[in-house]
Amino acid sequence: MLRRELILAGLAAGPAMGFARAAGAQTAPFRELTAQEGRAPLYPGSGSDTAIWGFDGSTPGPLLRVRQGEDLRVRLINRLAQPTSIHWHGMRVPNAMDGVAGLTQDAVPPGGRFDYAFRAPDAGTFWYHAHNRSWEQMARGLYGPIVVEEPDPPPVDQDLTLVIDDWRLDASGAIHAASFGDMHDWAHGGRLGNWVTVNGQSGHRIAVSSGQRVRLRLLNAANARIMTLAFPKHDPVVIALDGQPTGPSPLPGGRLRLAPGQRADLVVDMGLDPGAESPVVEVTGEAVAVAHLAYGPGRTVRPEPLPPVAAPAANPLPNAIDLPAAVAAELRMEGGAMGRMAGATIDGQMLDMRALVAAGRVWAFNGVAGRPDRPLLRAAIGQTVAIDMINDTRWPHAMHLHGHHFVVVRRGGRAVEGAPWRDTELLDPGERATIAFVADAPGRWLLHCHMLEHHAGGMVTWIEIA
Ligand code: C2O
Ligand code: CU
Repeated sequence: MLRRELILAGLAAGPAMGFARAAGAQTAPFRELTAQEGRAPLYPGSGSDTAIWGFDGSTPGPLLRVRQGEDLRVRLINRLAQPTSIHWHGMRVPNAMDGVAGLTQDAVPPGGRFDYAFRAPDAGTFWYHAHNRSWEQMARGLYGPIVVEEPDPPPVDQDLTLVIDDWRLDASGAIHAASFGDMHDWAHGGRLGNWVTVNGQSGHRIAVSSGQRVRLRLLNAANARIMTLAFPKHDPVVIALDGQPTGPSPLPGGRLRLAPGQRADLVVDMGLDPGAESPVVEVTGEAVAVAHLAYGPGRTVRPEPLPPVAAPAANPLPNAIDLPAAVAAELRMEGGAMGRMAGATIDGQMLDMRALVAAGRVWAFNGVAGRPDRPLLRAAIGQTVAIDMINDTRWPHAMHLHGHHFVVVRRGGRAVEGAPWRDTELLDPGERATIAFVADAPGRWLLHCHMLEHHAGGMVTWIEIA
């Protein structure tokens, strides 16, 4: 670099700091994260470990932990036979670090590497995962949690991360590979598993002690399953959703509904007696205990009773939403089984349903099946964006926006106030919701269904911020 450019770069960095998203500084070493095959005891009954793909060979991959405002510097090394990439779900990173193969970077080929470096502007619970053929790579285990610590976290005795996934295993406990790409799954609710794990273990035990206050960071890493969790005999308080502080508020109806990609931070006071055991139950179908709160023999004695639960301080999100001035777009979600979509375009060519099924594109946004050439909308930094999402299908969809958190400002034709900041919003069949956010960083940002078969099957678009 020429000396003059160096000086200009320095000058440009100065006044813009705190506004522009910062790429990581050049000092700290890279933490290597290797995408590779591994084995995990997902299904102990089978007598052998399951072959998985994982970061550093484990699933979930290692917990990445940084303090708010610090740099995350990760060198992805690809030792898989497929190209891959890493997306930092929920983190406000510079666009070139967003990890979307084919949009923000080329997929990293087998044997290749890619350096990710950026500052973590927001504290909270986030995650990283493969973003190439994610419907296969994530179903095989390529994801892991990220905790960005608050400078002043709510006081708790334990801070635990629980990554929930459902796997489709065969009778030998192997990942059912023959059903990857099954169009029946794709046109319905996606690849649903038949075996649930927490942190890669079935029957995961959460070791607690009577009298403790515990923070649970829950993450739904499943391809497609919406998890509805109940905590019998306990009263969790929600303090953050998708990494952003909210509330504090009790769980509506005592249940936490977590769509694929979503996170929730709960604070739970352990009120049972020493030695007690109490399940965490997934209640959607047949109730399944996904984990157990396992009380140890001791008791945590406090000089004073615990104060009411408080949420962490808000993150510095751009939040000056100006709806009357918003750049607005409509997003009609179409397709899938029992839907009324007659056809959609791929690469500008109109196809009927039969041809769409043959092409593996059974879903569409605004009549286009798959990522379109042109963005859904273009906006400038600082402008409010409003996207009116209409679920014109018979299936729920977990809509995820990259690089930004948004609030729902209208739902079912009514104005909504005080909705939480989220990066993934679940829309039930027939539901309509308008999300709004302030365009925060230049680049091409993906918007897709986080049910990964729906994404691959056509439910994906993008916005461009200049
Ligand atoms: Cu967590 Cu584009 O995804
Ligand atoms: Cu979907």
